[in-house]
Amino acid sequence: MLFTTVVSLLALAASGLTAPTLGPQELIVVSPNITSPQAGDFWLAGSTQVVRWNTANIPPAAAKNTGLLLIGHITIMRDQDGKEYPSENLDINHPLASGFRLTDGNVTVVVPHIIPRDDYMLVLFGDSGNTSPTFTIL
Ligand SMILES: *[C@@H]1O[C@H](CO)[C@@H](O)[C@H](O)[C@H]1NC(C)=O
Ligand SMILES: *[C@@H]1O[C@H](CO)[C@@H](O)[C@H](O)[C@H]1NC(C)=O
Repeated sequence: MLFTTVVSLLALAASGLTAPTLGPQELIVVSPNITSPQAGDFWLAGSTQVVRWNTANIPPAAAKNTGLLLIGHITIMRDQDGKEYPSENLDINHPLASGFRLTDGNVTVVVPHIIPRDDYMLVLFGDSGNTSPTFTIL
């Protein structure tokens, strides 16, 4: 899973690349697992929290990649045929953090004052997204 040639547009945005002039190095996809928050955790709005992820499997070629951390929650949407599909509702306009090094394994965030829910989750874009378990913001 680490080495694929799929690159998301968000990853391009996160790494500050504007032109599609990617070499093979930039096409390495990293998806570090989020280890904190864990399922059932709760965060207070306005508090400071540390988000952590595994760095063990980050390939050397991706060591300089920067990350983008987005918050969202799952809702079930319906397409025009009435078929249900999950939407992550990622708030791409208000990243919790960006520009940090993936190899750091953590980033400190201030919890936004958003609508309380018990099904928030984070997506860490290293080069591809990785979703945390759901947790609560009070
Ligand atoms: C993430 O966790 C899954 C399941 O535990 C594991 O198979 C995978 O190797 C992990 N990926 C990384 C990059 O550590
Ligand atoms: C975050 O990662 C940096 C770099 O690896 C490390 O120096 C620091 O101690 C970590 N901070 C926390 C709160 O874990």
